[in-house]
Amino acid sequence: MPVIVNISASTVREFGEVAFYLSNNDSMKLISGIEVNVSCPNIKKGGAVFGSDPGLVEQIVRTVKKQVSSSMVVITKLSPNVTDICLPARAAIAGGTDAISMINTLRGMAIDIDTGKPFLGNKSGGLSGPAIKPVGVFMVYECFKNIPECRKGKVPIIGIGGISTWHDALEYIMAGATAVGIGTAWFISPDIFKKIYRGLKKYVETHNKKISDFIGNAH
Ligand SMILES: Cc1cc2nc3c(=O)[nH]c(=O)nc-3n(C[C@H](O)[C@H](O)[C@H](O)COP(=O)(O)O)c2cc1C
Repeated sequence: MPVIVNISASTVREFGEVAFYLSNNDSMKLISGIEVNVSCPNIKKGGAVFGSDPGLVEQIVRTVKKQVSSSMVVITKLSPNVTDICLPARAAIAGGTDAISMINTLRGMAIDIDTGKPFLGNKSGGLSGPAIKPVGVFMVYECFKNIPECRKGKVPIIGIGGISTWHDALEYIMAGATAVGIGTAWFISPDIFKKIYRGLKKYVETHNKKISDFIGNAH
C-alpha cells in the first residue's frame, strides 16, 4: 500500500524543511509520495492562503522537489478559493509537480442565531462534502480542458470534493480526473472505498471497458 504524506507549512522555507525531514529519515522508506497542501495560510503575507498566489505555489513546489529524491512523487493539492484554478495549476506544473489534486475545502461560515456570533471557534472554516462537488468537478474540467499536460496525462489530476458514491467518482473521472480522493464521506461510512470501488467496477464491466476509457469523456 503506497503511503502519501500530506504536508503543510507557514512559509516557503518551512515547506522545504518538512520535505527535507521526510526525505532524510527512516520513515522515507515507507513514503512513496508527498502531497503539498497549499491551502494553508502564509504567515509572511498576513495569513492569505499560499494557493491563491500562483508565484508562491511555483516556489513551494520547486522548493519541495529540490529536497526529495526523484523517486518520490510530489502532488500539489490546490485550493478552490481562487477565481481561475488553471493559474495555480499551471504554476504547480512550472514548479515541477508530478500530479495535481483538487479541491481542498471552500471557505465558509455559520452564524449561531442565539448568540449572534459565528458558530465556529475560528469564525470561518473549511466547507467540504456534497455541497462542494459541482465546484470540484468544474475545476477538474477546466484544468483538463485548458492545460495540455493534464489532458495528455503527463500531469494527472486527482479529483476530490464531495464524493460519496461511485456516480460522484465517475463524474470526476469524466471531467478529467485519473484518480479520486475521499474525505468527508469516509467519516460517515468507513467502508466507502470498497463501495465506490465495487460500483465503478460493475459500471466498467457492464460497458466492457476499462476505467481509463472514461477519463475526460465529458469533453
Ligand atoms: C476534518 C478535515 C480535515 C482536513 N485536513 C486536511 C489536511 O490536513 N490537508 C489537506 O490537504 N486537506 C485537508 N482536508 C481537505 C480534504 O482532504 C478534502 O480536500 C476536502 O474535504 C474535500 O473533499 P471531501 O468533500 O471528500 O471531504 C480536510 C478536510 C476535513 C473535512
